[in-house]
Order: sequence, then structure tokens, then C-alpha cells
Amino acid sequence: MKAEAALKGSQFIMSNKRTILVTSALPYANGSIHLGHMVETIQTDIWVRFQKHRGHDCTYVCADDAHGTAIMLTAEKAGITPEEQIERVRIEHEADFAGFTIDFDHYHTTHSPENKALSELIYNRLKANGHISEREITQAFDPEKSLFLADRYIKGTCPKCKAEDQYGDNCEVCGATYSPMDLLDASSVISGAKPIAKASKHLFFKLPEFTEFLQEWTRAGHLQPEVANKLAEWLDSGLQEWDISRDAPYFGFEIPGESGKYFYVWLDAPIGYMASHQHYCEKNGLNFEQYWAKDSQAEVYHFIGKDIINFHALFWPAMLTSADFRTPTRVFAHGFLTVDGKKMSKSRGTFIKASTYLKHLDPEYLRYYYATKLTGGVDDIDLNLEDFVTRVNSDLVGKVVNIASRTAKFITKAGGVLSANNPNEALWQQFVDKNHHIAELYEEREYGKAMREIMALADAANEYIAEMAPWSLNKDPSQAQAVQDVCSLGINCFAALMTFLKPVLPQTVSKAEAFLNAELSWAEGIHYLKEHKIDTFKPLMTRIDMKAIDAIVDESQETAAVPSSETAAPSTSDNPWLTKEPVADEIEFNDFAKVDLRIAKIVNAESVEGADKLLRLTLDIGETKNVFAGIKSAYQPETLIGKLTVMVANLKPRKMKFGLSEGMVLAAGPGGKDLFILEPHAGAQPGMRVM
Ligand code: MSP
Ligand code: ZN
Repeated sequence: MKAEAALKGSQFIMSNKRTILVTSALPYANGSIHLGHMVETIQTDIWVRFQKHRGHDCTYVCADDAHGTAIMLTAEKAGITPEEQIERVRIEHEADFAGFTIDFDHYHTTHSPENKALSELIYNRLKANGHISEREITQAFDPEKSLFLADRYIKGTCPKCKAEDQYGDNCEVCGATYSPMDLLDASSVISGAKPIAKASKHLFFKLPEFTEFLQEWTRAGHLQPEVANKLAEWLDSGLQEWDISRDAPYFGFEIPGESGKYFYVWLDAPIGYMASHQHYCEKNGLNFEQYWAKDSQAEVYHFIGKDIINFHALFWPAMLTSADFRTPTRVFAHGFLTVDGKKMSKSRGTFIKASTYLKHLDPEYLRYYYATKLTGGVDDIDLNLEDFVTRVNSDLVGKVVNIASRTAKFITKAGGVLSANNPNEALWQQFVDKNHHIAELYEEREYGKAMREIMALADAANEYIAEMAPWSLNKDPSQAQAVQDVCSLGINCFAALMTFLKPVLPQTVSKAEAFLNAELSWAEGIHYLKEHKIDTFKPLMTRIDMKAIDAIVDESQETAAVPSSETAAPSTSDNPWLTKEPVADEIEFNDFAKVDLRIAKIVNAESVEGADKLLRLTLDIGETKNVFAGIKSAYQPETLIGKLTVMVANLKPRKMKFGLSEGMVLAAGPGGKDLFILEPHAGAQPGMRVM
């Protein structure tokens, strides 16, 4: 055993080959993959491809997170079983990830036999170690559905400010936090019934017993410093026992030795990383133990969003330790996606599904843009749609691909073989010198910095080619060799750039490899191709047309005005990592004065087929306007007919899936049923200007 380990150690030094396991957080099997999720999978995939490209043994697994009340209720609503629901979603998720060339070695589900067995094993070990306690707790219960209600399934009036329609744990209007039983006239979101208080036995993981272990673990280099600092505050203020059981009915795994009790979804979700990996190992004859045993030499990395840090940096290492498994080498948290500086929003058309993007644009544009924005930290990252178009067009098309397209033709015309001379060693040396630094930046997940280094090299190559101007030299037959030398250097610079970009742009680089007639490997640095036959150059990438962006936004825009709760990010009230959306930038009075507000009479209002939240309004402002408004949740269409409202009359007409919308009506309120059409004074006349 010892000799074996020593041998493994020496091989490690000799070949420097690392054994690495990487995961991305498991998406809920409850909704579609959107561009926020893609921040994480693209970040992870680039890192995995980089490790593989460098010659390491790297395995990337993921899965759908299939358990919990939300999934059970979604299935019920759709009239299918939870198993059917999660299978449908898994197929959709896998297709979306494949569309973005996410190179999973295996994609599993947490509702699997491997996960059941591992969850039971880990739970049994925690229990045997005395790390599970039990006690009765009292919770809100829906007597009609016979279901305990999590906070988000209860709504009522805020006990403090009396705002109606607030969720069970905090008030979005005044910010108060409370227990759901304190809500005035509370009702179950699921059945509408009045919840009752009901006691039942729950099982808890004794997290406080791991305080010392976690104080050390969180400071031992497994976490980003800003994450470790934040966790230190919580560790100092004392940890609570963690409730790991849920009562039936629940879609999940039943807890061994209990009846009608299930593992809380967050207990078996991270175990799902192991289960997916175990399935992969069994299918491929690999050694699962070698990765997960306490003394494992393999490296394990979890990429996650900052909203789920506690689960990965506190509960998970504590569970693994108690159950006698190794803990992660590192947990890498990233920030949240904003689009044009704001949370993704359905009303703005910026809640973009992966599948919608893929219908209109090449995945590599987004992979590159995210790469330019990603860092090793937890800051939010912004997808600015205009900047996205400019950056991709100018960097990838204008700088990188341009090098090949302006030099390849001269090589091809002279027989297609690269020259034996390098006419500018100094330029090539710049590429060689940056090789190591760029690799380090990838390793540290500083992709933004890596992309800037790569583009600086592209600039240097372009400057050299522009200066040498092979297209002018070519007019002088005595310069034929010089033309070949210059263009061959250009092609070599291009090949080096493609090598550095391979983790980000796998498809483009694969086309470039066909053109270069060479496989670009980065295991031992870059090599100058001499007297090497290349293929004819074909355009590798086209510019993004702004029209494609408009089409994506149009298709993503479900309604003209949707309550703000319909954004992607989770509730910010209970999670210190998440920030609330700030009020938009100030505008000048002149900007406001441009808005032409008119009294409008609603002459007709009807539902729109295929749109859950939209009403089609016919408005009279002296002329007739057709407007779609996202206010169906609050109004029966008939009740609106004949009423007056205020509309923005000079809003540029917008083509929507259901027709042209020629303005916007003003409504106010928190959303749902509480949306108030602004009703002007009865003496107002349609078409009147509102001052
Ligand atoms: N099912 C849990 C994870 C369990 S891991 C054992 C979950 N699922 S999720 O679908 O909500 O999110 C999956 C991952 O995507 C999380 O890491 C989350 O932070 C990330 N993102 C979801 N929305 C995001 C943005 N808008 N921006 C960036 N990442 C986001 O959490
Ligand atoms: Zn309140």
C-alpha cells in the first residue's frame, strides 16, 4: 500500500499529470436552462477543457437536481408523475448544454439508485456517529392538501406594514422578516386554504459540533478569501442544527428507519455529485474510491453560484467528514448574471433561455463574451447586449480570424506549404513568453485577463502584418519569398492564438485545426509550424448582426409589464451574498418630458391565446392603439372595458410574438392580483395630455 502510494507520488512528479474531478451545481429539474445558468456551465467547461488540453486526467460530471416539493407540484399541475416531469426536463437540459458544447463526461439525475444508496450510506454514518438529533417542530400546514408549507408557499398580509400578498418569511414592501404564522389572514398558495399550525418530528444534522472543524476548513485555502471572510462572521455568531427531513408527501428518498419522512432535497443534492461520478466510474471501469476516500490524492472542485455557498462550504464538508469521505479541494463561487446592468427580467426580454439564444446565435459568441467578463471572484457579471456584439465582432472576427484570412491566400496561391523561415523571431518570442502566464490565468479562473493577453498578442500580429503589407510586397516578384515568410509567421501566430483559445472556442478551433492540418495541443507549449502543408482557408466565423439580438429579446419578452418577482434570481431577503436591484440611473427632466402620456379609454380588452399574463387592449386616444399589457393576473378583461387609463403614447411600436404593441399602459402594485390600472379623474377625455 505504502509502496504503491510512493510510486504514484513519483509518477505524479515525473509526468506532472493531475487527476481531477470537476462539477457544476445541479440545475433544478423544474425549469429551463437560462443564460444565468450558462455563466456557471461555461465557466466550468472552459476550466475542464483547459485541464484536458494541458494533458491532465480531468472528469466533469453534473446532474439534474430532481427532488423537492416544487418539482412535485409542477408535475401535479402538468398532470404527470414527478418521474415523467424530471425525465422531460433532463432531456431538455441535456440538449441545451450540448448546444453550448458543454463537455460533460456524465450527466445524471439525483433520482437515481446510486444517489439513493449513497444518501442512505452517508446518513447512516452521520447517525452512527451521533451527528443526527430529532425533535418536534411546529410548522404551517395546508389542511386541504395535507402538506406542510414552506415559507414561499404561504402568502398573507404583513403584520408590520399591512401590505397584502406578502410571502411567508419577509415583506417585500417594508422589509420586515417574520414567521409565516405571524402573517395576517395567511393562505396557502397551493390550495388557498388557511394554514393551521401542526407539529411533527424532524431530524437534524448537528452542524454546531463541526464549528471548530469548519473554522479551520474554511481558512485552509479551499475557498476564495472573500467567501472565507463572510463565513467567518457566521461561524463566530454560532451555527444552527440543520433540518434534513421533510414529511410526506414529498418527492425524494425515504429516510431509512423512519416512516413517511424524506431527505430534504439539499441533503441528497450534493451527494448527487458523487452519485453521478460513481455511475460514470462503474460504466468505464474506473476507481470511484480513489477519488472519494479520505486519503485521496485526486483533486475535487465544485463550481457554484454565490447563492448556494452555505450548502457547499459548511454543510457539505461537515457531512463528508462525518461520513469518512474526503472534502473538496476547492469550492469556486461565481457571481450572478445581469443583462444590461439589471437582473434578468421577462418584461424587458432579458430572461433569455439557452434554447432561445441557440435558435439565433452561435454558442461560441457567448462563450467568448462570458470569458472576457469572468474572474476568480464572486462579483456579478454583466451581459451588455451592445457591448457583446461589438466585442465579439471586433475581437474574434476583426482581430483573430482576420490574421488568417489576410495571410492564408498568399500561402495557398504558392502551393499551400508554410515557409521554413521565421522572419521575425521577436514577434514569435512574445507568444512563447506569454504561454505560461496565459495558462496560469486560466488555472486561476481569471479568464477576462487571459482574453486580454490573447487579444494583445493578436494586436501585435496584426500590426506586424499591416506593416509588412504582404498584399503590396506581392506585387514585386523579387519579394515572393518575403511574402511567404511573413504570411507563414501570420499563420503561426494565428495557430498559437487558436491554441490559447481552444478551451473557450472548441468548435471554431476544430475548424481552424482542419485548415491548419494540425491538432493544436497545449500540453507542452506552442510550436512553430515550418514546411507544413495547410488547407484552403474558409471563413471561420461571421459577425453578429444586431438583428439577431433583437430577435432574441423579442422572443424572450413575454409581457409588456410583469411584476418584478418574475426575475430569475432568488429572493434577496435571506441571502447576504445577493444584492437588491438598485433604482435605475437618474434621468434629466428633458428625458422625462419626452414621454407623451395620454388619457386612454379602454374600448376593448381580451385574453391572448398562448400568453398566460397578457391582455390585448384596444385604446382610444383620439386614434386607436393596440397595446399588449401583462396585467391578466389582476383583471378580468371584461371589467376593464369602458375604463380610462394612462398610456405612454409615443413609445416606439414593438413587434411581439402576438402582434404589434403600440404603447404601454401604466399600472402599479406589487404584482399578482394587486396591480392597479392608474385611473384618471372621470372628467378626463380620451387623448388628453397628462401633465
Ligand atoms: N439545485 C440547486 C443546486 C444543487 S447543487 C448540489 C440550484 N439549482 S439552480 O438551478 O437554481 O441553479 C444552478 C446553478 O446556477 C447555481 O450554482 C446557481 O447559482 C446558478 N445560477 C442560477 N441563476 C443564475 C444567474 N442568474 N447567474 C449566475 N448563476 C446563476 O441552485
Ligand atoms: Zn411589510
